[in-house]
Amino acid sequence: MAIIKTTVNDKLDFDAAVTELKEYFSSLGARKGRQLTYNVLTYGCQLNESDSEKLSGMLASMGLKASSGGELDDADVIVFNTCSIRENADRHLFGNLGVFKTLKKNDHDVVIAVGGCMMKVPENVERIKKSYPYVDLVFDPQQLHRFPVLMRDAIRKDKQLVNISADDYIAEDNFFPIDRKRKFRALVPIMYGCNNFCTYCIVPYARGRERSRDINEIVKELSELASQGYKEVMLLGQNVNSYKGAGGETFADILRAASDFKEFSRVRFMSSHPKDLSDEVIDIMATRPNVEKHLHLAMQSGSNTVLKAMNRPYTIERFQEIVDKFRAKVEGGSLTTDIIVGFPGETDEDFEETLVAVDKAKFDACFTFQYSARPGTKAAAYENQVPSDVVTERFGRLTEYTNRYAEESNKKLVGKTMEVLIEGISKAGDMTFSGRTVTNHLVNFTIPEELGIDPGEDYLEGRLCEVRIDRARPYSVDGILVSLKGEEA
Ligand code: SAH
Ligand code: SF4
Ligand code: F3S
Repeated sequence: MAIIKTTVNDKLDFDAAVTELKEYFSSLGARKGRQLTYNVLTYGCQLNESDSEKLSGMLASMGLKASSGGELDDADVIVFNTCSIRENADRHLFGNLGVFKTLKKNDHDVVIAVGGCMMKVPENVERIKKSYPYVDLVFDPQQLHRFPVLMRDAIRKDKQLVNISADDYIAEDNFFPIDRKRKFRALVPIMYGCNNFCTYCIVPYARGRERSRDINEIVKELSELASQGYKEVMLLGQNVNSYKGAGGETFADILRAASDFKEFSRVRFMSSHPKDLSDEVIDIMATRPNVEKHLHLAMQSGSNTVLKAMNRPYTIERFQEIVDKFRAKVEGGSLTTDIIVGFPGETDEDFEETLVAVDKAKFDACFTFQYSARPGTKAAAYENQVPSDVVTERFGRLTEYTNRYAEESNKKLVGKTMEVLIEGISKAGDMTFSGRTVTNHLVNFTIPEELGIDPGEDYLEGRLCEVRIDRARPYSVDGILVSLKGEEA
């Protein structure tokens, strides 16, 4: 397995294929008497979303427009960007692919492409080859830069094309046209892949070995985003903290560089691994006002035996130390986590230790998952799998705990006036808007008429405002807008 960087020739091939497809879709559209459309379906994490923004950008540059209907099959080019993190993610694809058989029969020109992490699991590719012959293209999530070339070839040959490689690739973001979904938020991957091989996880197989983008390229992209008016950047990587620049730069350097752009009201990042989180990063969060005061740090389990079996290289005591440090340094900061229930061999005592750890850490929010065996991972072959009724029971108990702490965290905000970055309308009917605090708390709020503010979504999205919080819910808080910040407000 090698790590391959894209070259000038790749870019020339890319541009040639885009031009050719643009002509093809334009004449096909003329025949059909309408502009052709695309639909990119996103099933995974933010990195998957970021890939979808690139896929959409490429399709748009081929002259297609985004399909407006919410229907899956309401487009001329349909791209599945799959995720394989848990089994129910897989079901989405195979459940939905069936729908396209008739569609493809009725309109042979429709293009169906499948990519994303599921395509790095050989059984899934075999299943498509065998049972879904009407899928035109299976493409490698690590080779988005070849997507136009492969799509052109699949259309030319009029035969299913499968292109999955064992190598790892890295293309700078500026290789691609990017169609950013939110006009205020930019997703910026800074590194790809994962070397940790937690025994339950498919990501290292799907995304390959860790490789970091060039810091100068990242800063160039940030500078463009700042001048284009983006207010929030989300720095992405499976382990953003293990970023390693070619000149020895660390994640702290990237975080500082991003926060130096005063145009950004918020600099966020995902995900941090407990083994790599440095004190320097915590200090930056504590002192820089535009860096979010929210840390997502996956604990996974409160039992040292389970952590070891998961190949998570820290003890629960060490995890607790990091939590204490974060709480002490980042005033009012929020801490969220991921927990897996029912990992093979997890005993009642192990599970109780997880509850104790949740009690200590008092997470502001928690993403809880039932263990799902992923083919090809080490843990899938473990013999001591936990029966599903036991998993379900533990899962119920855990979520009761974690929900309680989440609600407590929300309750602490009641009565305060907080700065909120507006994300959009949350309920169109009664003009309730939603946004997030710098601690990533979700806020739904209304705008009192007497303030005389234009409540148009376009006008408000990405703006900072002050909201008085008057009610806590389990997953969000409600409030009333007090004032709008900046510009003419
Ligand atoms: N790289 C990130 C995690 C990305 S996956 C990190 O380590 O923080 C997001 C979460 O999905 C993981 O933290 C884990 O809790 C969960 N997850 C991953 N594989 C899983 C599996 N096989 N079954 C259940 N949950 C899983
Ligand atoms: Fe998966 Fe572990 Fe890597 Fe996170 S750190 S992506 S959980 S292998
Ligand atoms: Fe899913 Fe791949 Fe992300 S498995 S969670 S889309 S890295």
